[in-house]
Amino acid sequence: MTLAEIKISIKELLRKKIDAIELNSLLGMLIEEVTSWNRVQQVVELNTPLTELQIKKFNEYSQELLNDKPIQYILGKAWFMGVSYQVNEHVLIPRPETEELVEWVVEYANIIGKPLQLLDIGTGSGCIAISLKKALPLCSVSGLDISAEALEMAKKNAVLLNASIEWIEQDILNNVVLPNTYDVIVSNPPYIPMREKENMQEQVKNYEPAIALFVPNEDPLLFYRTIAQLAKKQLAPKGQLFFEIHYDQGKAILNLLDEMHFHAEIRRDSFGKNRMIRASLK
Ligand SMILES: C[S@@+](CC[C@H](N)C(=O)[O-])C[C@H]1O[C@@H](n2cnc3c(N)ncnc32)[C@H](O)[C@@H]1O
Repeated sequence: MTLAEIKISIKELLRKKIDAIELNSLLGMLIEEVTSWNRVQQVVELNTPLTELQIKKFNEYSQELLNDKPIQYILGKAWFMGVSYQVNEHVLIPRPETEELVEWVVEYANIIGKPLQLLDIGTGSGCIAISLKKALPLCSVSGLDISAEALEMAKKNAVLLNASIEWIEQDILNNVVLPNTYDVIVSNPPYIPMREKENMQEQVKNYEPAIALFVPNEDPLLFYRTIAQLAKKQLAPKGQLFFEIHYDQGKAILNLLDEMHFHAEIRRDSFGKNRMIRASLK
């Protein structure tokens, strides 16, 4: 079987599931993964026969796509701020919105202009913590998560990307005392009410870790309140809290932070949605 033939067979299998433009782009990634051919070689090699092993891998990956597995979990990697991170089903796939949160923290740290202590709560793949360390090499960065498996992946990414970070395995909902005070606490915590699960894309609800996504319906701001309480004890004087938020929770989180004696401001993402909050104690 040639590359051209396997392309036709995968397109046939997935054409009802994935639109043609997206499918072309996914195919390009799969072919590169299986054959190591770049996009130009993929054209040149169209009539080259594939090995048994390559055909087996193509069949396996296309079945996974048919079963809604995200391409990032199939390939074991995702891009964040122009850098490739390893991912598996224990960590959330990093999202572009989160890149804008990192940019805001970097902007703030550059204005302060001295080495800061930064903590990323709910670090997952480590994408926030590692990006901060790479952008602000003089700052000390810690990454915290409840999940040992997520931390294992974050550590791997930090080694691959040569970022020195302190990792903390802790459940922040369980009376945490952190080892330090911090100038910045940043978090993209779980924030999707459980009731929204049934309307979510299969790729997300069937593959991404529930612990990274969902909060109880009756307490959707659980993590924001808990992290703000923690920040009251653990933020250094003039310390700042940065949150990623669900676009329709902005007002509720601003009210919550106001009641907890924080000044807070909201920022929109590049799609114009309320997506990030910065807060400091009054
Ligand atoms: C939305 S994900 C964010 C992952 C990563 N920071 C990112 O932006 O892609 C939330 C993370 O919070 C972690 N988490 C959930 N509950 C937690 C808890 N009680 N204590 C600490 N971390 C928790 C999850 O394991 C997950 O990695």
